[in-house]
Parts: sequence; C-alpha cells; structure tokens
Amino acid sequence: MKPPVFSELQGRRAFVTGGATGIGLAIAKALAAQDVVVAVADINLDAAAQAVQSIGNGAVAVEVDVRKRDSVEAAFVEAVNGIGGCDIVIANAGVSTMQKALELTDEEWDFNFDVNTRGIFLTNQIAGRHLVGQGHGCIVNTASLAAKVGAPLLAHYSASKFAVLGWTQALARELAPAGIRVNAVCPGFVKTGMQSREIEWEARLRNISPQQVFDEYVGQTPLGRIETPEDVADVVVFLCSDSARFMTGQGVNVTGGVYM
Ligand code: NAI
Repeated sequence: MKPPVFSELQGRRAFVTGGATGIGLAIAKALAAQDVVVAVADINLDAAAQAVQSIGNGAVAVEVDVRKRDSVEAAFVEAVNGIGGCDIVIANAGVSTMQKALELTDEEWDFNFDVNTRGIFLTNQIAGRHLVGQGHGCIVNTASLAAKVGAPLLAHYSASKFAVLGWTQALARELAPAGIRVNAVCPGFVKTGMQSREIEWEARLRNISPQQVFDEYVGQTPLGRIETPEDVADVVVFLCSDSARFMTGQGVNVTGGVYM
C-alpha cells in the first residue's frame, strides 16, 4: 500500500540520527519520498555515505557519536550547512545488549544509557535550540515497546527507553509555547540488525534456537507477522506532517498490537 503524500513536507529539512541502517534508514527514505532533504547522522560514516546513495533527494552524510556533546554540536552544524537548515529532528540512534538483570555489568548499563538516553537528550537539546530560535519544527524520538513494558533480559535497555518517554513528555510541555511538537514512536519487534543480534543473544541465554525466539515474537503479535522498518517509518512521517498538528508528548505504539 502506498503511503499518503503530505505535500506540506516538500522542501523541509530533516536531521536523522542512526540513519545509516535499520529503522533510521527507513525513516530517512520515507521522508525523502515526501521530498524532504535529509542529513543522515551516524557513528558509522561509511554506512551513512552508502545510505545517502539510496535515499537520494540531496541527502548528505555526517558523522556523529550521540553520546558526546561536542560531536552532536559539530554534526548538527555540519548538517544544517549541508542541507540548508533543519525543520525536523529524528533522534533515533540506539543500541541494545541482552543480559539477565542480576548479571548486568556497569559497562552494559552505561552503554545503553549513554546512547539511548543521553543521546536523545543531547540531540533534542542542541537541535531543539535551533527549532525554538526559528519558531517552528518538530522532534520525533525513537523509544520502544520496552519503554512501555519491562522486557526480560532487557532491564537496562527498558530503563533507558522509559527515560526517553519521560523526557519526551516534559520537553513537549516546555516547547509547546514555542510551537515545537515533540513526540516519540514505540516500535515492537522490528526486522533490523539490532533484532538479529537480540535473537542470537536471547537464544543463547534461554538455551533455545533462534528460530524459536523469532516464532515467539511473531506469536505474540496480534497482526501476525514481524514488523518492518517501513511500518515504523510511515508513522514517523505522519508525526512530522501537519496532519499531526495537535499531537505532542505522545509515545505512539507501532507494534502490530503487541502493546495496546
Ligand atoms: P540498528 O542497529 O539497525 O541501527 C542503529 C543505528 O544507530 C546504526 O546505524 C548505528 O550505527 C547507529 N548508532 C549506534 N550508536 C550510535 C551512536 N553512539 N551515535 C550515532 N549513531 C549510532 O537498529 P534499529 O533496530 O534500526 O534501531 C533504531 C532505533 O529503534 C533504536 O533507538 C532502537 O532502540 C529502536 N528500536 C528498535 C527495535 C527493533 O526491534 N529493532 C524495537 C524498538 C525500538
């Protein structure tokens, strides 16, 4: 099914973190299909450079490590120079590791919080100042189903994503008077590199086969199939469009009904 066309998005400029692969790449492509010019910001510059070839519409690649303030500041300036401004901010870069809560190390906890939570804070703050300064724009953060329900083997990841929703709600209230909307999207089990790694880890930790893990994911999904990055991207495009003009502070579930 073809997604709708949001003509008001034409010519807008988007900064997409973690845009080189997976959900971020699908969001970048879906925005470019609406004639949005995209800056793909990723820690993997080679992958970002490859991604912009498939995104088209004048997309540019910039290197960023969302854990570091200096890096996000430099990447945002480079992106704004490269695409001529910024109207849309997609803070999507994220990582996951799997471990039993009682065996989790400090390093694993910090790694998940540094990328998933500090990364959202820094990206939203630095890009948000720009949006407030110009008096328009919107932000969409990638949270997770694990931001709504604590997930076993992902306690640290869940905690880092619950924090993203708290931040999103508070920021939405603070920026609403400036006309800036801030929302989050909460995907379920999405077919990406992250999911392949999680399936391998979970199979090992539970001593079952990767196929069994995959089948359990699908079995838990009322709509009866694994989620695609495009399922998420189409909702993000809607959240960026003027059709979502009265939505802010939301954590929109895109899970095929796993979470209602
Ligand atoms: P992915 O691993 O395919 O893509 C993540 C991207 O983020 C990669 O391009 C990676 O290079 C980049 N990245 C990682 N650390 C970074 C850093 N420090 N600075 C800048 N870029 C960095 O993963 P996927 O699945 O596309 O995940 C995207 C977002 O969706 C993440 O926030 C993830 O937590 C979230 N999510 C994913 C789900 C899934 O089932 N795949 C489910 C729910 C949420």
